[in-house]
Amino acid sequence: MALSRRTFSALTGCAALGFAMGGSGGPGAPSAFAARSVPTGPPPAPPRADGRRHTIGYDPYSLLVDGRRLVVWSGEMHPFRLPSPSLWRDVLQKMRAHGFNTVSVYVSWNYHSPAPGTFDFSGVRDLDLFLRTAAETGLYVILRPGPYINAEVDGGGFPGWLTATKGTARTADPTYLGHVDAWLTQVDRIVRRHLYTQGRGTVLLYQLENEYDSHVTEATGRAYMSHLYKKVRADGIDVPLFHNDKGRNGYWVPGSFDTGGEEGGYLYGFDGYPSPSQNPPDWGKFGPGGPKGGATASPNTPGFVPEFGGGWFDPWGGAWFDGKGYPEARRTRDSAYERRFYLTNLANGLTLHNVYMTFGGTSWGWLPAPVVYTSYDYGAAIDEARNVTAKMAPMHQLGHLFQRVPDFARLDRAADVTVPGLKVYHLANPDTGAQVYVTRNDGTKPVTAELPTNAGKLRITVPARDARMLATGLRLGRRTMKYSTAQPVLCVTAGKRDVAVFAGRRGDLADLVLECPQEPNVTRLDPEAGWAYERGELHVGAPLGEAGLSRVLVTGGGTETPLVLLFADDATSMRIFPHDTPSGTVVVYGPTLLRHAEVHGTEVRLTGDLDDDPVIEVWGPRGIDTLVWNGRRVPTRVTLSGSLMTTGTLPGVPEVRLPELTGWRMRTENPEAGPSFDDSRWRRADRTTSYSTTPVPKGGPVLFADDYGFHYGDVWYRGTYSGGTGIESVRLSYSSGTQGLLMAWLDGEPLGTHRLPVPDATTTIRKGTWEATATFPVRPELRSPGRHVLSVLVRRMQHDQDGKGDDTHKAARGLTSVSFTGAAPEVSWRLQGERAVDPVRGPLNNGGLYGEREGWHLPGLPDRDDREWEPVTFPREERRQGVTWYRTTFRLSVPGDVDASVGLRLEDDPYRAYRAQIFLNGWNMGQYINNVGPQHTFVLPNGILRTRGANTLALAVLSEFTTLSGPGKVSLTLLGAAAGGLPVTPVPSPGH
Ligand code: GAL
Repeated sequence: MALSRRTFSALTGCAALGFAMGGSGGPGAPSAFAARSVPTGPPPAPPRADGRRHTIGYDPYSLLVDGRRLVVWSGEMHPFRLPSPSLWRDVLQKMRAHGFNTVSVYVSWNYHSPAPGTFDFSGVRDLDLFLRTAAETGLYVILRPGPYINAEVDGGGFPGWLTATKGTARTADPTYLGHVDAWLTQVDRIVRRHLYTQGRGTVLLYQLENEYDSHVTEATGRAYMSHLYKKVRADGIDVPLFHNDKGRNGYWVPGSFDTGGEEGGYLYGFDGYPSPSQNPPDWGKFGPGGPKGGATASPNTPGFVPEFGGGWFDPWGGAWFDGKGYPEARRTRDSAYERRFYLTNLANGLTLHNVYMTFGGTSWGWLPAPVVYTSYDYGAAIDEARNVTAKMAPMHQLGHLFQRVPDFARLDRAADVTVPGLKVYHLANPDTGAQVYVTRNDGTKPVTAELPTNAGKLRITVPARDARMLATGLRLGRRTMKYSTAQPVLCVTAGKRDVAVFAGRRGDLADLVLECPQEPNVTRLDPEAGWAYERGELHVGAPLGEAGLSRVLVTGGGTETPLVLLFADDATSMRIFPHDTPSGTVVVYGPTLLRHAEVHGTEVRLTGDLDDDPVIEVWGPRGIDTLVWNGRRVPTRVTLSGSLMTTGTLPGVPEVRLPELTGWRMRTENPEAGPSFDDSRWRRADRTTSYSTTPVPKGGPVLFADDYGFHYGDVWYRGTYSGGTGIESVRLSYSSGTQGLLMAWLDGEPLGTHRLPVPDATTTIRKGTWEATATFPVRPELRSPGRHVLSVLVRRMQHDQDGKGDDTHKAARGLTSVSFTGAAPEVSWRLQGERAVDPVRGPLNNGGLYGEREGWHLPGLPDRDDREWEPVTFPREERRQGVTWYRTTFRLSVPGDVDASVGLRLEDDPYRAYRAQIFLNGWNMGQYINNVGPQHTFVLPNGILRTRGANTLALAVLSEFTTLSGPGKVSLTLLGAAAGGLPVTPVPSPGH
């Protein structure tokens, strides 16, 4: 294989240089890899900003970090969907504790750039802080700054202002590239400070574009990708780059665009979101690669899924989960779903694996793309309220396994094994001889069968639509395991003993055989386990889970080092945490979360979270005799297996009481509807051309809000005309995205409300753009000679995404055209959207409602002393077209050592057509649409929520005249509570 002209700098000095340099082979390139190998060995140490230089290479099996094989087991979270930086650490610690070694993040351009050339990376947008936190947590980072990200965010991440610029996005158009370069320059300046290659942080990989499948065969597409590649390199990013191919097409494999002669620094990745009703497909190195390629499209780079579904999003109305919302997503994509698909991925040789989402979070403010509602919970393993859910089990087990048992980083396909009723994948590690069997049941009934393995026939049961992984020939510390019917989870040396963990479904029987030349001493530490020694083999049997952990101690039998075998069901396995400290590895059992562990002399100091009825047990370095939990010394005893175990009872979770929400005050607004409102400072609609994809109406001015600098939330229009005496009706066309809405008034009199997506006789919806026309009759008394004012409020539901690369984000938002029947008066239009960007809360916090422009959403408004703010109680039963605000304050006093997650719940008769924007301490926590749903509970993130102090809640309610309008019941609800948590820094919330 020819050597590259310019060898990728990060690989210099890498032991596997020869392999990594060949990474540009592309489809059909001769593979020079098989002949040489990096043998199976210990994985690299958990990453941190250690000031040392590191190499990041790869071969067809896996990444090679400093020449050591690394299985990338990554979880996706979006810092922009959690606007409280202290909580980033919480989520990252949860990921790390549950087996992830990497976090993957999109960076959303619109979140950071309110205007061309203006960028903000401060406060909740502090990317530098996020990357520091990830490094402190010991996680690698996969950085994905777009420029296009999709992600169900407004414009797919494109800033609102980009919709009003020249040139086609996602091509090599020079205007677009100019904006892209300005963005990447800012991002890369921060990322450069966190590259793992430089030891300055833990950024491991960097993605170019996302699911770019529209201009693949065109020169402009190749030029665009090439431009991005060279730009990122020129900015000093020296980690491997990659693209995320939608649908496993084999698009953008190495060699498919010009990298300026640089080779070996680019990987191929593809994503997959299989439905739970599907049988897991083969997309990998070993399988046929699916119809279009999968990982086989790039034989010389390791199998890489930058996104694999760990849940799915839900649209307004909740159609995809029967209106039941994200709990249903979690039920249908449960732990068995994850296991079936992720084990298949492993069996397909995919060793870079990112679960999208692992924590979904909240599309707060005007972040959501029109298709989704505020919650982006996603049915992910960690829910929106930061609770780790039961579906984390397979991720926990596999993640720890890949980090602790090196055999899994280099697997070849081995001889086919067939078992009736099961799909079996057989793999083997060429260095260690370990064999792996992934058995999958795609049927609807459990299958019990004999699995032929190199260690004999093993009797197993695989539940319906589930999978099970077995291994033979694994090293367990100083001993060799002949086989186990329970899945290996980890094996570490903790002090003077080896500790190995095995897991399975509750009620399974683990059957494990150790090779022991001499008869060992076996002690069962829990009553359930049994054993027998026969002809050099120790057979251990343990039921999984009925009574928590089942512990068996093996000493002697050919080696002096004791081996502690721990058997757990899924739930119990999620309470076992290995943690590396400078004094050695500890294994902690019991808490719901281990955040951190340190050893100081004979003292082991742990921090983490507990639920009720906790016990903590620790296996650690020699001589530890004292346990400090969350800063407090707790009484312990030393057990037979050498662990320290708590004796007394630890405090569980104290009760968290939430107050009722009372003391509401209300005020109506929309003075803009009135004829005498002063709009002289509003923007005049004087443009005649637009870069929007929506045509400008003939002869009419451009009314599209983005062309006047209004990009988010509501926008008001006032059209003034004279002498419309013949007018019979007014036709208002608008484009808002699904669930958008328009309200109109003439001279202060309501004409009516029109709401999408309800097409009726008077509505036309132009495909894809959600442009609709509402026709309102004009009553005779509004046809007098003289001046008239037509006032229109449009609720925009954000810009479409641009998944197909055809500028769909540029579809107009706001009014698009206006006409009359019976007369054709000349109308002079002015419009007003959001005021100046909130410097703390950012560009997506506010739209252009009167109350927002006047700061009614902010804390500190003197509403109590203002006669305009009338005291009210809920439920309300109003009939009014327009905007009404409701405000109250409440105090919380959650105990300091409890991590409580609080939500706001709104409930009412679903017939009532109204919606509310929810402002907590001035932060826009999302949109409730009573008659659409399905979301009723809104997570209020701690930090924005003062859990010990005063809070201001404001609801901006838009109601139609057609029905009575609420709010109905509004309450606080506890979504989770743990004894522990992290200190939370209040998020600045400047007041009125
Ligand atoms: C992927 C895309 C992500 C997100 C996901 C669905 O195809 O890359 O950004 O949109 O689909 O949640």
